Amino acid sequence: MSSSRLPGLYKKPPAERLQDVAALTGLTAEEQRLLAAGVPVSTVDPLVENVVGVLPLPLGVATNFVVNGEEVIVPMAVEESSVVAAASHAAKMARAFGGFHASADPPLMIGQMAFRGVSDPAAARRKILMNRDRLIDLLKDPESGIVKRGGGPRDLEVREVPTDAGDLLVVHLVMDVRDAMGANAINTAVETLAPVLAEMIGGEPLMRILSNLADRRLARAQALFPHEELGGREVAERMVAAWAFADADPYRAATHNKGIMNGLDAVVVATGNDWRAVEAGAHAYAARTGRYRSLSRFQLTPEGHLHAELELPLALGVVGGATKAHPTAAAALRILGNPSASRLAEVAVSVALAQNVAAVRALVSEGIQAGHMRLHAKNLALMAGAPAHLLDRVAEQLVAEGKVRMSRAEEIVKSLRATGA
Ligand code: MEV
Repeated sequence: MSSSRLPGLYKKPPAERLQDVAALTGLTAEEQRLLAAGVPVSTVDPLVENVVGVLPLPLGVATNFVVNGEEVIVPMAVEESSVVAAASHAAKMARAFGGFHASADPPLMIGQMAFRGVSDPAAARRKILMNRDRLIDLLKDPESGIVKRGGGPRDLEVREVPTDAGDLLVVHLVMDVRDAMGANAINTAVETLAPVLAEMIGGEPLMRILSNLADRRLARAQALFPHEELGGREVAERMVAAWAFADADPYRAATHNKGIMNGLDAVVVATGNDWRAVEAGAHAYAARTGRYRSLSRFQLTPEGHLHAELELPLALGVVGGATKAHPTAAAALRILGNPSASRLAEVAVSVALAQNVAAVRALVSEGIQAGHMRLHAKNLALMAGAPAHLLDRVAEQLVAEGKVRMSRAEEIVKSLRATGA
């Protein structure tokens, strides 16, 4: 893609925005039709049970992103105003120093098998580890798509977990799931292996399921934000103090990390991935030191610029599940250039970091309500019946008067109509 900078995109109507995005990303005519019209209920019916309708979310695109030197337009599905604009704004600031530098670990997922009543845990551990290669080979189904693509089971680890209901022997299967999120592959594998292990160690299998604390599959991003763009050295310094607040106080950390998830979830949802899994993994990782802390880290450079970085578990797939079955998710992946799972994780973690930087910058300067109010005012203008060419004018007047409410929007629209505007 030549450039993800699409100045003035926000001023255009949705159909023109879509054309601009299609021209840059190669969206097909069919994909464009689908994005504009939404999917019919028959398309989503097979995904879950008892379907009675479709819940459309706005699908926006974040502009200005450069991730590992490559321009990328990022689809974001989110109902909260200002999120897409804030991510795009932070991405623009980061361009001065080359954008985001991101990496993703190999796609290793963990499946847990818990056994109780194991009389000699040390002997059980020895048996499992001595037979590790043979046990792993049992799971290497040559017909499996993951094995065909070079993935598959990699390792077995044994842990003893004391609980209030007795001691457990917990075996972790580590599996390379390639471009999949991996839940199905892992769950099938642990359900196959657990009875074999139970027989071997003489324990009773309690349960077997993947772990959403995907800490072998971390994604990380970092970027440098020039203090001139942030609003000055003082703003950059205040942002570091705000980050330190989040790192020290769980009440603030929860909100700080929610700002990160605003960006991350929007990309995860747009691409048909499992945002509950990503949320669970992120928050568990935030508490890995025994205290719930900020997922990101901010520092000042000697020149007074802001260096921001973020690391979290990120199990995203580009094959299987809704990523392919949901046509909007498939179109979102096309906008991203049909990335591999690891490229998707690199882009998503970069958006998450951008979102965090944008939120904290606003919080230590003008606050977040100003931006929210501008969009809210525009929504009110629309609901009050303002025609498209008057939307901005009505919204600006509402904000300028400090009366961002429906009754005032209706009055303004009425008086503009009376003057023939
Ligand atoms: C609102 O959705 C997100 C923020 O609360 C994040 C933050 O406080 O850092 C603005």
